[in-house]
Amino acid sequence: MFSRRKTRVIPFQTAIGARDYHAGDGCRAKVPDQSIPYFAIFSSGTPRVMQDNLVQIRRASHTHPVLDKAATSGVRRRVYIQTVGCQMNVLDSELVAGDLLQAGHELVDSVRQADTVLLNTCSVRQHAEDKVYSALGRLKEIKDRRPGMIIGVLGCMAQKDQHQILKRAPYVDLVVGPGQLGQVPMLLTQIVAGAGPQIELSLDRTGGSRASVAESFVHFEPHRTAQTRAVAQQAMVRIMFGCDKFCTYCIVPRVRGPEQSRPAAEIIEEVQRLADDGCLEITLLGQTVNSYCDASGPTPIRLADLLYRLHDIEGIRRLRFVTNYPKHMTDDLLTAMRDLPKVSPYLHVPAQSGSNSVLQRMKRGYTVEAYREMLARIHAKIPQAAVTSDFIVGFCGETEDEFQQTVDLVRDARFKNSFIFKYSTRPGTKAAELFSDDIPESVKRRRNNDLLAVQNAICLEDNQPFFGRTVEILVEGPSKVAKKRHPKGGSASSLLKKGTGSERIAANAAENRGREAPVPLFQQAAGNAPDTNPATPPPCPSANAEATADQEEVVQLVGRTTCDRIVVFDGPRSLAGRILPVMIEKVDAFTLFGRVVAD
Ligand code: 5AD
Ligand code: SF4
Repeated sequence: MFSRRKTRVIPFQTAIGARDYHAGDGCRAKVPDQSIPYFAIFSSGTPRVMQDNLVQIRRASHTHPVLDKAATSGVRRRVYIQTVGCQMNVLDSELVAGDLLQAGHELVDSVRQADTVLLNTCSVRQHAEDKVYSALGRLKEIKDRRPGMIIGVLGCMAQKDQHQILKRAPYVDLVVGPGQLGQVPMLLTQIVAGAGPQIELSLDRTGGSRASVAESFVHFEPHRTAQTRAVAQQAMVRIMFGCDKFCTYCIVPRVRGPEQSRPAAEIIEEVQRLADDGCLEITLLGQTVNSYCDASGPTPIRLADLLYRLHDIEGIRRLRFVTNYPKHMTDDLLTAMRDLPKVSPYLHVPAQSGSNSVLQRMKRGYTVEAYREMLARIHAKIPQAAVTSDFIVGFCGETEDEFQQTVDLVRDARFKNSFIFKYSTRPGTKAAELFSDDIPESVKRRRNNDLLAVQNAICLEDNQPFFGRTVEILVEGPSKVAKKRHPKGGSASSLLKKGTGSERIAANAAENRGREAPVPLFQQAAGNAPDTNPATPPPCPSANAEATADQEEVVQLVGRTTCDRIVVFDGPRSLAGRILPVMIEKVDAFTLFGRVVAD
C-alpha cells in the first residue's frame, strides 16, 4: 500500500546508483536514485564517534538536481504548513518551507488556499498529539471534497507513530520524521507522480549501532530565506540535533535521535549568511544546548568558544541559546555570557522539580542542591541574568511534600518565568514502563495552578521596577490585538483548535512561543509574526508613536528585551525588525507597556 523506506544515510560513494540498501535492523530499505542528493554525504563515510559521545551531524547536500526537477516537472503545489511544538519545530517548518519554495512550490497561509497540508507535529505531551489527530479528522472532511489534496504528517509524531498514523488516518499521504525533512519536496513529487503514500523515517534508537542511528538523522540545510521567517531579523540556528539524556518522562531522545553537534565552521557560516541577510538576533537551538561540542578538530569547540566566534560577526546584535541542561552550566559559559555584550543575559534552564526523589525518578542527573548552587553561580557572575525554568507537576508518585519542595524552589529562585506542565505519560519512555501515572488529573491541575500562582506573583513583582525605565527591544511586529483588529494580507488560519482543557497556562503562555502552541506555518512577512502576546493586553492609553512620525497607520506592536521580556507599544508596522528604546509606562505580570523614545 505504501513504500516504507526506513532510510539511513550512506556514504556518497556507496549511494551513487544505489538501489537497495540493507539497513542494520534487517529492514530492506530502498534508496531511490532520486534521493541521492539528499543522502549524499560529501564529507564521507561513517561518522566518527566523538568525545562526550557526541557525533558529528551529517549534512545533506542542497545543490539540487531533484529540486530543479521538481521545479521544472510542473509539480507546483500550494502548501500550507501548520506547526505544533517547540522552537525546534518552528525552525524545521521554516527550513521545509524554504526548501519547498526553492523547489518551485508556493506557500499559502490557509487551508482554504492549499492543495497540500503539512502538519509538523510534537510528541512531548499527549495533548499535542490529540490536537494533531483531530486536525487530521478535519482535514479528511476537506480531502473528501477535494480529492487531489495531499496531507502530510511531519516531525516527532511521524517518527514516533510511524505507520500507525496511516492506520489511524489512511488518507494521509506523507509521513516524514524530523531526521528526513530534507526529502519532503522529492516525496511530494513522487506522490503527485502516483507513487502512493510515502513514509520516510530515521532508524529507531534500537535500530542499529549508535553511529548508524545517528547517521539516519540527517541535518538538512536549504538556502534560508527571510520570507519564511516570522521576523526577518530574528533567526534560529540549530547547533545540535537529538538528545542522549533519556529523562524518564521524555520522548525526545527517541524521536529526535542521538545527540549530535554540528561543526562550528558550518554554524559560523550560516550565522554569517544570516547577518549578511540583515538578521540581528540569533537563537542557537539544542535540546541540551550547553553540552554543545564540536570535537572534529584538534581542540574541542564548546558553546562558550562558539559564542566568542559568533560574537565577532558584524551585524549580529543579539545572541541567545536554548535549552540548557543544569549539569552543563559551566563557569566558562557564564564568563562568556558576562564578557560578550551581544550575548543576552537570559538563560532557560529547566529544573523540572524541586524534589530530589522526583528528580531521581525523572533521572535528571542532579540534585536540587546542585541546581540551587548553579543558580547562585549564574547570579554571582551575571547579576542581571533572567533565568527561566520548566516544571512538570504530577509526575509519577509525586507526593504533596515533594510538590511543596518544587513550590519552595520557585519561590526561592524567583525565576523570570516558569513553564509548567502536567505530567503526560509517553509510551516508549522509561517512566511509562517503570512507574504508574498515579496522580489524578484534578490533583495535577491543582498543583499546576498553585505553582503558577506563585510564579505569577513573582513575575508581577519583578516587572514593577521596569516602570519608568527605558529598555531596548527588538520589534517583532503587530501584537495579537493588532492582528485581530487590522488583519493584513489575510489572517493565517489554524487547523488546531485551542481546546478548553489546554495544559498550557494562560500566564506563561504569553511567552511560550513555540511550545506546543499552534504556530501558523508560514508567515508572509514580518508583519504577520506569530503572536507573542496571547494575553491580549489592552492598548496602553499613554502609549504613543511620536518618535515614528510616519504616515503609516499606527497599530499595537510587540517586541522583546534581551532578557526576553515582552514589551507592547504603539507604532507603525514598519518598525518591525528594528531595535529601539522604549520607555515603560505601565507593567503587569507578563507584559511591559511603553512608548518609543527617540534614539
Ligand atoms: N509530560 C509533561 N511535560 C513534559 N515535558 C517533557 N516531557 C513531558 C511529559 N511527558 C516538558 C519538560 C520539558 C518541556 C519541553 O516539556 O518540562 O522541559
Ligand atoms: Fe527530554 Fe531530558 Fe533530553 Fe530535555 S534533556 S530533551 S527533557 S530527555
